[in-house]
Amino acid sequence: MRFLFRLLVVATVLIGFSYHIFAHSKKAWIVPDETKEIKNPVKATKDSLDRGKKLYETNCIQCHGEKGDGKGSLAETLETKPANFTDTHMMNMMTDGEIFWKISKGRGIMQSWETVLSEKERWDLVNYIKTFAK
Ligand code: HEC
Repeated sequence: MRFLFRLLVVATVLIGFSYHIFAHSKKAWIVPDETKEIKNPVKATKDSLDRGKKLYETNCIQCHGEKGDGKGSLAETLETKPANFTDTHMMNMMTDGEIFWKISKGRGIMQSWETVLSEKERWDLVNYIKTFAK
């Protein structure tokens, strides 16, 4: 009986521990390869960045934060934390096409924006959120 009890304790701890790791590991967001090749048709001019900033403040700031660090006012309440655009390493790993695709499709709590924002608006946002990492 004692042995069984110990076994049960060990099993419970192990399950709890793996659940902990699982729940907190960020699932990689894999995009289709061809989306990485999509070229950004909108130059990051001052006009594009101004438009991007406005769109960001209306649609994205509440989660991704004023500084793009993922600490928006809603972030605390979210299970999956919003991406941190000041993370230069992460931002450099993504092509414009990949960022565009992620904004367009969304994942989980981050909704899809392709029916809400025009293509040009989404490219303005790509240009704008890249400025956080500089
Ligand atoms: C309701 C909160 C919320 C809003 C609003 C929101 N996002 Fe997100 N966003 C998230 C979360 C959470 C993730 C991480 C999703 C994941 O990894 O499953 C994310 C991920 C991203 C990513 C992918 C980064 C990566 O990990 O590769 C980009 C790009 C992005 N958001 C851009 C935007 C833009 C642009 C807007 C506004 C048009 C926006 N988001 C609005 C919550 C939000």
